[in-house]
Amino acid sequence: MEYKIVEIKDRIYYVGVNDRTKHLFENLWPLPKGISYNSYLIDDDKVALIDTVDICYSEVYFRKIKSALGDKPIDYLVVNHMEPDHSGSIRWLIRQYPEITIIGNSRTMDMLKGYYGITDNVLAIKDKDELNLGKNTLRFYLTPMIHWPETMMTYVPESKTLFSGDAFGTFGSLDGGVVDSLLNPDWYFDEMIRYYSNIVGKYGSPVQAALAKLSGIDIEVVCSTHGPVWTEKENIDKVIALYDKLSKYEADRGLVIAYGSMYGNTEQLAEIIAASAAENGIKSIVMHNVAKSHQSDILRDVFKYKGLIIGSPTYNNQLYPGIESLISALRNRNIKNRLFAYFGGFSWADASLRHLSEFAEEMGMEVVCDPVSMKHSLTADVAENARKLGQIMAEKLNCRK
Ligand code: FEO
Repeated sequence: MEYKIVEIKDRIYYVGVNDRTKHLFENLWPLPKGISYNSYLIDDDKVALIDTVDICYSEVYFRKIKSALGDKPIDYLVVNHMEPDHSGSIRWLIRQYPEITIIGNSRTMDMLKGYYGITDNVLAIKDKDELNLGKNTLRFYLTPMIHWPETMMTYVPESKTLFSGDAFGTFGSLDGGVVDSLLNPDWYFDEMIRYYSNIVGKYGSPVQAALAKLSGIDIEVVCSTHGPVWTEKENIDKVIALYDKLSKYEADRGLVIAYGSMYGNTEQLAEIIAASAAENGIKSIVMHNVAKSHQSDILRDVFKYKGLIIGSPTYNNQLYPGIESLISALRNRNIKNRLFAYFGGFSWADASLRHLSEFAEEMGMEVVCDPVSMKHSLTADVAENARKLGQIMAEKLNCRK
């Protein structure tokens, strides 16, 4: 046996892999500390595998499966999610186990055919269908749009184990321990927010629907497709509460100031606003120069904090390109329930404030005060307006829980 396979619960094993090579998840989102692709094996009278791993790791993945099972065949593959970071090894799997039956829902079947040409040996399940493996039962819950249409979860009532797909997952490889009780989970919670805001953030309503569906289920283990396996009650409560909060677009008292600045003038407005907000009691302030901060981190912080201030110079009669990109990402994620303010600089035609005003109106943001406009460079009047903006935002944030 090459690998010592981690047993999570009676007959449930972890056979996932770590990826510390890829720079960008989905070729978009930075992976400074890697990522894990989690797959699970239930070695019962019938053997079931839950999801696979990215195709780049098929080889080590199969060596792990072999270490767990030896020559025993796999009867079922449950596909909770078809995105290729989890379905990428399905073709390899079929070559190794030609008799395997692939389980998914009707939308999974369409994707199996489309991505991999698979139409045989498939079993389409419906919501709350069950499949007995021996001592363990698989019960399937359809949870569409977290964050693809076919996403579903699989629950084993005997061990109260939920295989949740991407939900409750995090960026970050598993460096040593796989289960939360054998690692320090602190860092992962922030990465869960970044993962949620980047990947799932658009789908608040489907997440709420899924949480409602799961609310009557007794859960003692959460096996996501990324990050730690959650087994400690405190952590399970925390990750479910976090998903509830994020999907309702609720946020902590704190402020994000995201700005673009070509020559530093607009940036000086951002500095004055931040200092004023701090003087008026806001301790959690995050400033993002959009030309340097990755949008992945800005989105995380916008999902974390209640206050949002955006500043942009006018550029070709439009917004600064990095700000344009940011508001597009916020629009895409239906961001709401934020206290909003904005400011801008221009040299001959003031267009950025108009665009930011349109964004605020479109998103139904509560605009806390008049915007601050600056022509050419900072003056005493403009600085005073910026101080007022920071003060009013702080006062509004302090009034909210
Ligand atoms: Fe981890 Fe949506 O794939």
